[in-house]
Amino acid sequence: MKNKTIQVNYKEGNDLTAFDAKTKDLIEQTIAFSKNAYAPYSNFHVSACLILDNGKVVKGTNVENASYPVSICAERTLLSHTVSNYPSNKIEKIAIYVDKNLSEPVPPCGVCRQTLLEVEKRQEQDIEVILISQSGTYIVFEKCSDLLPLYFDGEAL
Ligand code: THU
Repeated sequence: MKNKTIQVNYKEGNDLTAFDAKTKDLIEQTIAFSKNAYAPYSNFHVSACLILDNGKVVKGTNVENASYPVSICAERTLLSHTVSNYPSNKIEKIAIYVDKNLSEPVPPCGVCRQTLLEVEKRQEQDIEVILISQSGTYIVFEKCSDLLPLYFDGEAL
């Protein structure tokens, strides 16, 4: 048996001026959109917004339900809507924001990572993922597959 190591590459920072104007605008829209989250049970307000190759910004939030497992994360609200409504556009980047007093950005759950991966594989173009915290710190992944080492995808089927 051999020891193996997987390296995960990402960038982190706390200075939004490091982004170009389009990306900064996406981040600002994502932060503002968390007010639309429907999260009366967890009080954990998440927003996710993306930019398409035609410049359009698409937005989503988590949407909870009194029957807790029926709830859906912001990332999957956003991706389902985008895949259904913009089937011929590619996604360039996604920003994700949690409106909670935390010093670090919150990474997406495993189910959302798997969903991000599916969309990235389908469009055959990397999607940048930007995680933003309330304190202004951020983490940037160049592509969704960096969030899911040893991923499962359709190739195996
Ligand atoms: N949530 C998201 O929207 N995205 C994630 O990646 C993790 C969790 C939501 C689901 C639920 O409404 C609340 O956060 C608490 O789990």
